[in-house]
Amino acid sequence: MSRRVPVRSATPSAVPVAPDLGRVRALVRESGPDTGLIGLLQRVQDEVGFLPEPVVEEIAALTGVPASRIYGIITFYAQFTTVPKGRHHVCVCHGTACHVAGAPLITAALEEELEVRAGETRPDLAVSLEVVSCMGACSQAPVMRIGDRTYGNLTPDGVRAIARRLLDGGGDGVPGEEVGDG
Ligand code: FES
Repeated sequence: MSRRVPVRSATPSAVPVAPDLGRVRALVRESGPDTGLIGLLQRVQDEVGFLPEPVVEEIAALTGVPASRIYGIITFYAQFTTVPKGRHHVCVCHGTACHVAGAPLITAALEEELEVRAGETRPDLAVSLEVVSCMGACSQAPVMRIGDRTYGNLTPDGVRAIARRLLDGGGDGVPGEEVGDG
């Protein structure tokens, strides 16, 4: 029988990570006119890790670009995030094939075992959990990716074992049927 673990009510605002606004100011100063807004956002995210409200407000104030326009770019491009990602980034496919094959049960098992809700990061930054669209491995549904490794034919009990190994520091070299290198 699987272990029932209550999901914490962690929210992005509960994650105890303060962005380095001094580094943001330096990056804005260093960026030349050819960098462009998307390039600047990429550089800031690469160094600061994410683009939360204080960072967006700082960039808006320094560049004169309205914060609403910056948020428009952040929400349009999947590469940008307003919350910090965990050391292990777990993505569960909820495309049609995976959904039919039980992806919601896979996500629910991971939420319980990892103690984090889909779309959020654990407060200790060990793991972030995300729901994504088709990964192109539909014949192996349900599928998830951890880092650059993709695993298929998942079961709730199987992903619980993987989750425990991640939290125990076992890395993402987890047992399972790997279906690609991402
Ligand atoms: S729907 Fe999940 S891999 Fe295609």
